Amino acid sequence: MRALILVGGYGTRLRPLTLSRPKPLVEFANKPILLHQIEALVDAGVKQVILAVSYRAEQMELELKQKVEKLGIELIFSHETEPLGTAGPLALAKDILTQSTEPFFVLNSDVICDFPFKELEQFHRNHGKEGTIIVTKVEEPSKYGVVLYDDNGLIDKFIEKPQEFISNKINAGIYILNPSVLSRIELKPTSIEKEVFPKMCQENELYAFDLSGFWMDIGQPRDFLTGMCLYLNSVRNRNPALLYNNPCVVGNVLIHPSAKVGTGCRIGPNVTIGPDVIVEDGVCIKRCTILKGALIKSHSWLDSCIIGWRCIVGRWVRLEGTTVLGEDVIVQDEIYINGGQVLPHKSIAVSVPEPQIIM
Ligand code: GDD
Ligand code: MG
Repeated sequence: MRALILVGGYGTRLRPLTLSRPKPLVEFANKPILLHQIEALVDAGVKQVILAVSYRAEQMELELKQKVEKLGIELIFSHETEPLGTAGPLALAKDILTQSTEPFFVLNSDVICDFPFKELEQFHRNHGKEGTIIVTKVEEPSKYGVVLYDDNGLIDKFIEKPQEFISNKINAGIYILNPSVLSRIELKPTSIEKEVFPKMCQENELYAFDLSGFWMDIGQPRDFLTGMCLYLNSVRNRNPALLYNNPCVVGNVLIHPSAKVGTGCRIGPNVTIGPDVIVEDGVCIKRCTILKGALIKSHSWLDSCIIGWRCIVGRWVRLEGTTVLGEDVIVQDEIYINGGQVLPHKSIAVSVPEPQIIM
């Protein structure tokens, strides 16, 4: 089987991290978001993955080619010269997607869940119509595509980012489609959510598959951290041996083997510590992601933060409120930051008590 992953877009909502790396390469639980998806696709028997890219593809090609070779699948980059939206990229890859009559998977590159691809395929083949999308329930449906469907899963309406409340069941950004869907899409910027799915609904060709278990779009810092908590909880249920076990750890924590943690620390719950990170003595970290090569000096206190690659956080520092440090930021000793978004390569010498972007 084949899959196409939509990896265009600028990832502006995940700035400042995406100023250094394209969103799909940002490490979520110590692995690029995209690799979580590709590995799950491989487990479901996918042999060919098409990455629909429109921006900063060189870095992605370089990094992913090596990683994916080990998985024994073919990775094809489909380059757009202008952003083609969420449907146009399918038309661009039409020659590949129509090489067989088999259905193919389509994924948004910023969603995380336990990826039930096998069950999705089974459900899709059973109803026999053109497409199936995974749906999940959320608290705040207005930022997503909302769906109304009957007990069999047949979707009556698909409305992208509705202004008024319609339902709390939303499009999870994971589809399986028959190649016949390609006859509905022209090679131009097109939205699958606004232009393709509504028509398929009118013709009774689109079904919903209910997701059980967690789901998150991790394209914004707040959701990235929430998604990390849900993901770690799922790791606890599926494969607890992957989690770190140590007297200084509380709850679900992932620590890369090359990271070093000092004495008298309290790490967790819900923390991911990346490769080559150094956490000095007496540090307290909860609900954070610390990316590769960062240094957290002694007696600092971090809650709900993302610390970028190679940052240096000084002694007695306090970071909270979804603070995000871009790559290579230095925070001086004793500084307090609440909800700051700090651009790469900055040095912070004055506290930031209110949420703001620091350039
Ligand atoms: N190749 C390519 N070209 N990819 C693109 C382009 C483009 O021009 N524009 C966006 N994408 C990719 C993004 O990288 C992302 O993986 C996916 O398409 C969806 O774009 P987002 O910008 O993340 O959309 P969203 O989060 O607002 O809404 C979408 O996802 C929700 C679930 O998270 C929609 O599909 C909603 O219906 C859905 O509920
Ligand atoms: Mg998104």
